Amino acid sequence: MSEDGFRQEWRAYSPAEHAVWRTLFHRQEAVLEGRACRAFLDGLAGLGVAADGIPDFRRLDEVLGAATGWSIVAVPGLVPDDVFFAHLAARRFPSTCFIRRADQLDYLQEPDVFHDIFGHVPMLMNPVFADYMQAYGEGGLKALRLGSLHRLARLYWYTVEFGLIATPEGPRIYGSGIVSSKGESIYALESPAPNRLGFDLLRVMRTRYRIDTYQTTYFVIDDFAQLFAATRPDFTPYYRALEALPDLDPETVLPTDRVVQSGP
Ligand code: PHE
Ligand code: FE
Repeated sequence: MSEDGFRQEWRAYSPAEHAVWRTLFHRQEAVLEGRACRAFLDGLAGLGVAADGIPDFRRLDEVLGAATGWSIVAVPGLVPDDVFFAHLAARRFPSTCFIRRADQLDYLQEPDVFHDIFGHVPMLMNPVFADYMQAYGEGGLKALRLGSLHRLARLYWYTVEFGLIATPEGPRIYGSGIVSSKGESIYALESPAPNRLGFDLLRVMRTRYRIDTYQTTYFVIDDFAQLFAATRPDFTPYYRALEALPDLDPETVLPTDRVVQSGP
């Protein structure tokens, strides 16, 4: 339960709502085999409580808490930035409770419980990623103080939500916005349309993003160690340096970008 008393009314979900979850869950499980990265698939395998229907956050907390000390806090929708970051910094993941309707399986602009739980919690089962998310929350509180939140928000967007990771078999998905979407899980890896560019922290923090359609650019990390090493330093001088540089449109490719090939 959150401080303001909002909670998931698990018993109030209808059979039809649980059925929407199961449809989405089994569909994504099939699509993500061979497309999601190992860390995500391992995390998902550890979440048996999530297969049967919309999970009860209290049962989820037992599994997640034992794995990495994270818990879920129910929220009615988007929360203010400072509240969101304070939750992450305390290893609490804010999740919506409502589930999309059966005629909205394929695309939803706002997060629902399927995106928040299926999309994010498997990666929070991973100890290293769990620490990254906590550090991000602390960094968010700092970025707010420095007036650079839009920079840090782009990092979240292009890693936590829409990140790809290189493997010997080609890029794989770890971003929650991709793994919770059947269409984008295929598009992100297999469509010739989007750019897939090597991850570069300052480049990412200059790049605007679109929330109304599939991404036009994905950033590919080499591995999680690279992401954590890049994000460990104090961002204060980065934010200052970025003030002198223009923002980039999401579809821009610079001569200095490393284009990553993605085969089927
Ligand atoms: N190191 C960043 C800072 O000083 C915080 C951060 C950590 C941001 C991990 C993102 C991810 O602001
Ligand atoms: Fe999300």
